[in-house]
Formats: sequence, structure tokens, C-alpha cells
Amino acid sequence: MTHEIAVIPGDGIGQEVTPAAIEVLEALDIDFEFVEADAGDAVKAETGEALPEETYELAASADATLFGAAGETAADVILPLRDAVGSFVNIRPAKAYPGIDAVRPETDLVFLRENTEGVYSGHEDRLTNDVSTLTRVVTESASRELAEFACDYVDTDDHDGFTIVHKANVMRETDGLFRDTVAEVADEHGVETDEVLMDAFATHVCLDPEQFDVVVCPNLAGDVLSDLAAGLVGGLGLLPSANVGTERALFEPVHGTAPDIAGEGVANPAAAIISAAMLVEYLGYDEEADAINEAVEATLEEGPRTPDLGGDASTEDVTEAVIDRL
Ligand code: NAI
Ligand code: MG
Repeated sequence: MTHEIAVIPGDGIGQEVTPAAIEVLEALDIDFEFVEADAGDAVKAETGEALPEETYELAASADATLFGAAGETAADVILPLRDAVGSFVNIRPAKAYPGIDAVRPETDLVFLRENTEGVYSGHEDRLTNDVSTLTRVVTESASRELAEFACDYVDTDDHDGFTIVHKANVMRETDGLFRDTVAEVADEHGVETDEVLMDAFATHVCLDPEQFDVVVCPNLAGDVLSDLAAGLVGGLGLLPSANVGTERALFEPVHGTAPDIAGEGVANPAAAIISAAMLVEYLGYDEEADAINEAVEATLEEGPRTPDLGGDASTEDVTEAVIDRL
């Protein structure tokens, strides 16, 4: 069976780490057909559009999408792309790897972030010179869909339950609805939950990340807190993510275009390669996904390493080392 994979490298180091991830996928014994498409600042400069219609259509029809990063146009690219694949949850694992100088080496958690609404639903207005407003949207249906996914996730992946992170003490209607719905669904499924307010979570996760495992949260909280967790495990070059919908999914490193190092060939390809492993697992190839993860882990531990991790290897050196270990 051939799997059609949309490949959208985007801008900056997206152009360096996405080909690295594809090289790793090509080393597997799986029948992929890669179809590349443009998105981001460069294509906007050329055509006026950050996300050409054919790129959106490709993501909406391919079996899965691998995305790199977009620069200033990131919001104009990634929000519609998440919509193209019908993604309602963003899975963001934050795990410290052996041998990496992490602030909190015991960190091993997964964020399940609501991916369609909250403050990112696009209802922003400039009312007067002085006043701008934003409408925060939370629906029971989206909260329920996320919660159902979270219950399946903890069952399949053998976790004890999950932590609901919210700020319902202040945002009583929106986060109140989120918290109540997620807790109710978990209860229906016999899944254990606890709750932490999102500001308190920021402190607790820094002081004692081991107390957390699976974290279910609204959109903005998930965005910010997962980047915070990236800091605990050794930097953005290590964090993968998956945007999952009912029929399709898009995989991308959490990091951006890294303009400070773009073009130098030294970007850490680990996040993009682990994102590709999540893609492989999503398509049902668990063994191959494990093999990629183990090869990346061994490479992170034994080297070679890119400069962000204190090494002097290039993107290509690290990619070859991963492929050699596969
Ligand atoms: P960034 O993630 O691009 O870079 C932050 C810092 O981390 C930089 O010092 C960079 O060199 C380093 N870094 C990130 N990934 C790395 C890797 N793989 N290897 C080694 N070092 C790495 O975030 P920043 O600087 O806030 O944003 C730069 C641009 O990226 C902006 O235009 C922003 O809009 C865009 N962006 C796009 C995203 C996306 O497309 N999903 C996500 C985040 C930012
Ligand atoms: Mg972010």
C-alpha cells in the first residue's frame, strides 16, 4: 500500500530539517509517495499568498503531511493547514533524552492541546484607536472531542489518567465549560483525572515535572506550557508534534524557522525526525516508529550533535548517524 505524504518544508531551517526527516523515512521499508508543496514567507513574496490553494488541497487529501516551519506568515500557514487536515488535537511530547544537558532530566510528559478554538479562533477586533478586543471561544463539542481522544490515548498508551490544566477560577464560562466537559467525559470512560490551574502548573512543572504525565489543556495554555516544557528538556530542537484529526494528520517540529542559524546547515534535525516517527506510528507502523525513536535517542546520547546541543556536527552528519543506526 502506497501512502501519499504531503511535504511542506516552508522557510528557514524548515528547508533543512524537513529533507532530513524525509531521508530517514526513505530508509524505511515502507511505500511512501512524497509530494512537495510551498508555503510561507518565500512563496508569499513570489505570489502574494503564504498558503497557495494547491498546498491546502494537497494537505486536505494526502494520507499525512509533514510540515517544517513558516516565518512571519506562520499563523497564515499553520492555522489553515491544521484546518485542512481537520485537526482537533495537538500532541506535544516533551521528554528529556539521556546524555542531553536538560534543566529537568526527569521530564517525560505529553501535552494534548485543544487545537481549534480558545483565543486562536480568530475573533479579534480593533474597535477604536484605543481599544482592541478578542473573543475567546470554547465549545462543549470541541472539549468533548479532545477529551474522548485523551481517554483513548491514556488507555492505548497505558497511562494512569490525565491532568486537566485550565484557569476556570477566572475564566468561569469558557474554561469552566472546558474543565467540566473534559472531567465528565473522563468520568464516563472511567479515566482518572486531576486538575491544576495553568499558572500554578507553570511553577509545578519547573519544580517537579515528574508528577505530570498526560496533560490536557486549552489551546493557548498548551502552546505556552509545552514551549516551557521544551526549555526543561534541552531546547526547541528536540520537540516534535502531531496535529491529529479524524481522518488525517499533520506532523511538525514545535520550533520555528530559526533565522539566526538558517542556511548554515547546522539545524538540529531531531525534532523533525521524531515528528516523522509520529507520522509513521500514525500510519500504523509501530515497529518502524520505535526504530526511528531509538536511533534518534542513541544519536542524541552518543553523538554526533549539532551546536544547539554543544556539538559541532551538521544537520547532515546527524541525519546520517540516525540512518546508520536504523
Ligand atoms: P524558533 O523556534 O525559530 O527559534 C528559537 C531559538 O531556538 C533560536 O535561537 C533558534 O536558533 C533555536 N532553534 C529552534 N529550532 C532549532 C533547531 N532545530 N536546531 C537548533 N536550534 C534551533 O523561534 P523564533 O525565533 O521565536 O521564531 C522565528 C520565526 O519562526 C518567526 O518568524 C516565527 O513566526 C516562526 N515560527 C514558526 C512556527 C511554525 O511554523 N510552526 C513556530 C514558531 C515560530
Ligand atoms: Mg508555539
